[in-house]
Amino acid sequence: MSNNTKNAKLIAWVDEVAAMCKPKNVVWCDGSQAEYDRLCAEMVAAGTFIKLNEQKRPGCFLARSHPSDVARVEERTYICAPTKEDAGPTNNWADPAEMRVTMKKVFDGAMRGRTMYVIPFSMGPLGSPIAQIGIEITDSPYVVVNMKIMTRMGQKVLDVLGDGPFVPCLHSVGAPLADGQKDVAWPCAPSIADKYIVHFPDDRSIWSYGSGYGGNALLGKKCLALRIASNMARDEGWLAEHMLILGLESPKGEKTYVAAAFPSACGKTNLAMIIPPAGFEGWKAWTVGDDIAWIKPGPDGTLRAINPEAGYFGVAPGTSMHSNPTAMLTITKNTIFTNVALTDDGDIWWEGMDGPVPSHAIDWTGKDWTPAEKTPAAHGNSRFTAPASQCPSVEPAWEDPAGVPIAAFIFGGRLSKTFPLVYQSFDWNHGVYMGATMGSEATAAAIGQAAIRRDPMAMLPFCGYNMGDYWAHWVKMGASVPKLPKIFRVNWFRKDGAGKFIWPGYGENMRVLKWVVDRVHGRADAIEGPFGLMPRYEDITWSGLEFTRAQFKAITDINKDGAVAEIEGIKAHFANFGDRLPKEMQAELDKFASRVSRSPEVWSLLAG
Ligand code: GTP
Ligand code: SPV
Ligand code: MN
Repeated sequence: MSNNTKNAKLIAWVDEVAAMCKPKNVVWCDGSQAEYDRLCAEMVAAGTFIKLNEQKRPGCFLARSHPSDVARVEERTYICAPTKEDAGPTNNWADPAEMRVTMKKVFDGAMRGRTMYVIPFSMGPLGSPIAQIGIEITDSPYVVVNMKIMTRMGQKVLDVLGDGPFVPCLHSVGAPLADGQKDVAWPCAPSIADKYIVHFPDDRSIWSYGSGYGGNALLGKKCLALRIASNMARDEGWLAEHMLILGLESPKGEKTYVAAAFPSACGKTNLAMIIPPAGFEGWKAWTVGDDIAWIKPGPDGTLRAINPEAGYFGVAPGTSMHSNPTAMLTITKNTIFTNVALTDDGDIWWEGMDGPVPSHAIDWTGKDWTPAEKTPAAHGNSRFTAPASQCPSVEPAWEDPAGVPIAAFIFGGRLSKTFPLVYQSFDWNHGVYMGATMGSEATAAAIGQAAIRRDPMAMLPFCGYNMGDYWAHWVKMGASVPKLPKIFRVNWFRKDGAGKFIWPGYGENMRVLKWVVDRVHGRADAIEGPFGLMPRYEDITWSGLEFTRAQFKAITDINKDGAVAEIEGIKAHFANFGDRLPKEMQAELDKFASRVSRSPEVWSLLAG
């Protein structure tokens, strides 16, 4: 299809990119179902897609990536801010002028032998004042069909765009074809050093080369909606966050919305799709988003959030009718699976799925697999791409351009000790500090000792400017928004002496959310501890779950030596930011240190 726009800037950019990348032809995507079906059929013919059993998984396909191209490449991700300090200590920086020269070289002839697709897309409801329009140019049909699920995409976006501005997002798999050269199922630049995920905050443009996978290639997601949008948000007074958005409805019909930031693969999709457990009859949980939130001050003085995406790109392994029934029901049809296992009856499988382990399957690398195999059948970062509209718990107002009012922010990570199940901040700045210092345990390969990888607000790989300035922006938001959300930290991951999770998690996390909701509405008590305000055993609703005081103690006690180690860890973390560390964050650390110094060897909520 040829172009159907009068946007002169867009037409000129597409011409310029085509001249540089030298594709065999150019296709403007209209976003129709017919186009989607045609591209899927072409990918089946090319061996990129396997059509799954139409009876078992109607409208579903499986793709297997090249083994070198299975996740985001943080070490090849660049923020080309004017100076290295503007990108900050947590980002790779390159000089924008030099990187532009490099990119033009890398993209010269990059699409030879391939079709160049022009994908108009909207992050956020089409036409809403909160939405951003991007144009992704790509030589990957896999990207086109994933973008159709993950965003609002096609001609309707060009109609809304008119002559207006857009975020240019250029993508190539980085595998040009010589004359007569046969293509492979998953083209990419196999060497990590040949991949580039590059952001230019100055002209808000994105150049991604060499990878076809996930956040590297679906440029509306992490590149636009987080790295570029975090720059827009700082300049314009809003927040672009790596957060799920969830609505909790009480039996009386009172609705409370929370947004939660957990690092990648730490349970955002699970919490976004939570089903209230036994003991919570009459409660409902509604999914607004599972990965990204754009949050703006609303006319009513609250912070209002939208999910800029239209689908879920969710982690497959571990997803089951026990851990996440809502996700399992969402992915029964019209879903693209990447790097999961293929069963003999043409369905999909992964480690942790319900039912018996198949006696034979084809693993994610395309090889025969049996349970005797030492390697997993599905890759650890295998994913499903599914439309949000298929989610049984999708919030009725999930596409409301006005967004939903956020009553609480929740931060969390994977921490096996020291950090209690839940605590609330004393005030806004303390809450910002709780987010700024959050971390997750990276399993240190060497000694088996758990080291904390600091992942502030779960934005470590996604903040498009200096993280110190980003904390300052959060502090500033606190001073200007009249009805601020309350801020909480949670930890589902405390372990016992045998290395087992003590907290049952998943649906049972509703018990923690209920306390959060009650705190927000001023209905629950809390006790002051070294980390923050905490619920006593009797402040949590336990009906429907056998969880003893002793178990509660095991996930809420705070060992002084653990807290002292945390102070040292935060000092080292903050030292990386030099004079970009907001004084408010240093002040919070000082207050934390003083609370810890006054606390006993083991601080406990429970007397005796
Ligand atoms: P990205 O899509 O990568 O941003 O991550 P995400 O946060 O959406 O990840 P996801 O929800 O897929 O995380 C899944 C992982 O979290 C799996 O390993 C789950 O077993 C684990 N998980 C989720 N909820 C819980 C819980 O309540 N308790 C425990 N122990 N594990 C959980
Ligand atoms: C994440 O890593 O946080 C993801 C997956 O959500 S990706 O879109 O590939 O970045
Ligand atoms: Mn994510």
